[in-house]
Amino acid sequence: MIAESVQEALNKQINRELYSAYLYLSMSAYFESTSYRGMAKWMRTQALEEREHAMKIFDHVISRGGKISLMPIEAPRQVWSTPLEVFEEVHKHEQKVTNWIYDLMDLAIREKDHATANMVRWFVDEQVEEEASASDIVDRLKMIGEEKGLLLMLDAQLAERACYCRSSDRPWGRTPAEDSLPALPSPLRLSVRLLIRTASEASFASYPDVFHQLLSHIVLPPFSA
Ligand code: FEO
Repeated sequence: MIAESVQEALNKQINRELYSAYLYLSMSAYFESTSYRGMAKWMRTQALEEREHAMKIFDHVISRGGKISLMPIEAPRQVWSTPLEVFEEVHKHEQKVTNWIYDLMDLAIREKDHATANMVRWFVDEQVEEEASASDIVDRLKMIGEEKGLLLMLDAQLAERACYCRSSDRPWGRTPAEDSLPALPSPLRLSVRLLIRTASEASFASYPDVFHQLLSHIVLPPFSA
């Protein structure tokens, strides 16, 4: 069971996460139109992650026996004047999201809803990263100023961002590493899944190549076959 007030707040947060996805998709379209392809890719990845955030809350409400109420998503802004202005808006938006997450945590604690507080704790940590990465790009853009060459170098760097989101529309939210497993016989697949689940998501996100190497060459030789 979930308290009415918590359910309402979680549904509101689903809407805000989906709005965030919309906003970043709009920023991606803006960057495509101005030929900053790396920044467009960064924003598209960010939009995917926001959808994952919405789905994480969506799944939590359902698994607690709550009711999902999807609301209209506000139309985002479509035009900016510079990459700096876009990333400043990202930073400001993420600060706003952090405050909403803190409000959610306060509510969960007030209602003694420990399961929701646990789920929201993941978002508290995530917001530290979200704010830091936006603020880092804002700082770099300020340093770069009008230097077109440096701006293009930063654009190329931002193109390298990869998404390690769990895709919530796959069976039981498989990770990208788990998607590499179909060639394995099923008992082995299960063992590797358990191994992946035991490893923290953070270490997979930070060292995906090392993790794949470990699986391919050390743990299960047939993995690379
Ligand atoms: Fe889901 Fe970027 O906040």
